[in-house]
Amino acid sequence: MQTILITGAGSGLGKELALAYAELGHTIILTGRRLEPLQKVATQIALKRGNAYTYQLDIANLENVKRTVKEIINKHKVSYLLNNAGVGCFGSLRELNEVDIQHTIQTNILGTIYLTKTLLAHLLQQENPKIMNIISTAGQKGKVNESVYVASKFAIRGFTESLQKELEGTVHVTATYMGGMNTPFWDETNHIKDKTRLQSSAEVAKKIVERDEELFIEL
Ligand SMILES: NC(=O)c1ccc[n+]([C@@H]2O[C@H](COP(=O)([O-])OP(=O)(O)OC[C@H]3O[C@@H](n4cnc5c(N)ncnc54)[C@H](OP(=O)(O)O)[C@@H]3O)[C@@H](O)[C@H]2O)c1
Repeated sequence: MQTILITGAGSGLGKELALAYAELGHTIILTGRRLEPLQKVATQIALKRGNAYTYQLDIANLENVKRTVKEIINKHKVSYLLNNAGVGCFGSLRELNEVDIQHTIQTNILGTIYLTKTLLAHLLQQENPKIMNIISTAGQKGKVNESVYVASKFAIRGFTESLQKELEGTVHVTATYMGGMNTPFWDETNHIKDKTRLQSSAEVAKKIVERDEELFIEL
């Protein structure tokens, strides 16, 4: 059994991954900026006799990442990092505002890199350590009105593929690409007209958990 740190575990895909891995008996470290949704997921896991702990973590803030990782590894041996947290940024490049651009790059790229780098030494001390990066089909091809989001996901694809080579034989690193899912991700935008037509994050999580030994998962 592993101790799995999941970012963005209070909603959407992160939440479903937490529930699915907990069901298999793994210990889950639920992280995100808002504690309340994390506590609800922890309660759901506890009701099924699973193990979960909650930590407030803003991956976009390096000081917060360093402090929180220290706190977590004082108490837990984390052997699996699941980089799931991410934000969207949609509209034509002319319309996008600089604050949203900055926030997307800071969260999706720097946040993922900060946390992975900060936890890496600890991961390397564990048995069979793993990292999974939740990317998106936005990390595979360009899309209209998604230029900055796509740029952020291409960056994480490059980061992941490089770590697969750099850490070969020590850490198993998985890149995961999926199409649209019906999650709160789309709540603040009208980029997707009807999110209820998208695949369910619970189904996607189930497939990811079944295939998590693979280096490349496409769903
Ligand atoms: N929905 C889709 O169609 C789709 C498709 C392909 C890939 N993806 C990717 O799937 C991942 C999960 O997205 P989702 O669809 O499940 O959306 P979601 O429900 O909005 O989940 C995103 C999570 O990330 C957390 N988060 C955001 N900024 C953070 C930060 N700075 N530090 C820590 N946590 C942060 C949020 O929690 P807090 O606000 O509490 O921090 C939230 O729980 C993302 O990487 C997204 O790019 C989504």
